[in-house]
Amino acid sequence: MTNELDPRPEDLKQRVWESIQRDELPPRDDRGRMRMVMNNLVLHLHPSKVAKPTLKFTYTWGLGGLALLLVMLLSITGVMLMFVYTPSPQTAYQDMLNLQTEVWFGQLIRNLHHWSGNLLVIVAFLHLLRIFFTGGFRTPREFNWILGVALLLLVIAANFTGYLLPWDQLAYWAVTVGSSLLSYLPVIGEGLRNFLLGGPEVGAATLTNFYGMHVAIIPLTLMGIVSFHIWRVRKDTLSIPRKLDGSIDGSDGGTQVEKVTTLPHLVSREVVFALLMTGAILLWAVWMNAPLEAAANPDHSPNPAKAAWYFMGLQELLLHFHPVFGAIIIPTLGIAALALLPYQRFDLSAEGVWFRSRKGRQMAIVGALTALIAVPLFVILDEYVLDLPGMLPSLPTIISNGWLPFAALLLLLIGYYDGMKRLFKATACETRQSVFVLLVVAFVVLTVIGIAFRGEGMALMFPWEVLS
Ligand code: HEM
Repeated sequence: MTNELDPRPEDLKQRVWESIQRDELPPRDDRGRMRMVMNNLVLHLHPSKVAKPTLKFTYTWGLGGLALLLVMLLSITGVMLMFVYTPSPQTAYQDMLNLQTEVWFGQLIRNLHHWSGNLLVIVAFLHLLRIFFTGGFRTPREFNWILGVALLLLVIAANFTGYLLPWDQLAYWAVTVGSSLLSYLPVIGEGLRNFLLGGPEVGAATLTNFYGMHVAIIPLTLMGIVSFHIWRVRKDTLSIPRKLDGSIDGSDGGTQVEKVTTLPHLVSREVVFALLMTGAILLWAVWMNAPLEAAANPDHSPNPAKAAWYFMGLQELLLHFHPVFGAIIIPTLGIAALALLPYQRFDLSAEGVWFRSRKGRQMAIVGALTALIAVPLFVILDEYVLDLPGMLPSLPTIISNGWLPFAALLLLLIGYYDGMKRLFKATACETRQSVFVLLVVAFVVLTVIGIAFRGEGMALMFPWEVLS
């Protein structure tokens, strides 16, 4: 029903719907559906129909969506913080204190921003693992995996540049240690470090540079790549979860994929999940304050001076390898191998199966156990027994503490690969997965050792001694 002067429908519900939809409810035929897709924001982000099995929470664990939610929370709280923060050594620390006393909900907003940023590193990493272990990076999703690797690096860069902004002791020294890793880059290292820091040391220019990167360059790049990433998920569609026997998970043994409409099936789940997660993060932020130590003092270095937690694996590597290997060669090879991973040959039939196969699962457990046992042993051996530069004083340290241990490590990995392939009579795909698990768990163990088992002078000690 319409009236002559006002052609809009009488029914308020219908009017509200049309104001959002830009159109009346279209008829349920093909053209109507197409018109609805064209005029609907949600259906620009999602396809109009999705495969029902992909709605299963224990397939994606909501990790991509949670990463997106965190990016949104970070943008909102970040803009709020910009109103009360000036990136200058004279004011930055005081601004942090003012947030606690002068600004309504200031501390809560800072807590939300701080914890969401740290959580995003963990969530993006877990999302990467989920994609790897379910084979979600295979054709046609290889390029989206590369976009994902770029996102992970940007997320770490965003965290690192934000770390400095409170201008307390923690910030100042973590950035001093973290940025010193750059100077090991041959030829351009020192120049690049000076360029990023705005001088040879962390100072006022560093704060301005990091602020610019943190609030403009990195978020804009991140948003651009996130949009591209989500658009590719829409175009490539999500991989379909399968059981060990290859049947589609959630389809009673069938091979036909049932489709359901995105509205309401997917969107309702996304809204509930986003609300629950926002609530949980809010509760955590109310309960746990973001750390703030004494104001930055360039003349007094804490002992030990540690990098941010997500760089502690690298800092630990540096204690065992020549810096060119610990800070440059090993991380660069790791990132390159990660980015190029989807272009390796994989069993396509295993797409959507957690850990590829039953054998794949067993081999993944062996990989994890090997790293859990071998890495602490190597660390202890290197700390108390092995002293390669001391044992081979005639060799330059880049050989005795770089090329030699690196070659030994490579040989061990090749031996592990070959041994596992023969022992389990496994495919290359299952064996590579086991090596991947070994390397990921090794990196996590190194990070934990760096965070919890390194105390004064970066000596090995128990966590309670580190804390005391
Ligand atoms: C800011 C970080 C990121 C955001 C916001 C994000 C967002 C998303 C979303 C919403 C999905 C669909 C739902 C899901 O699979 O959970 C997705 C899928 C995907 N993501 Fe990400 N992602 C991020 C980081 C990454 C990383 C680090 C990688 C891997 C290196 C990655 C690779 C992929 C791939 C290949 C898919 C398709 C998976 C499939 O079809 O099974 N993403 N991402």
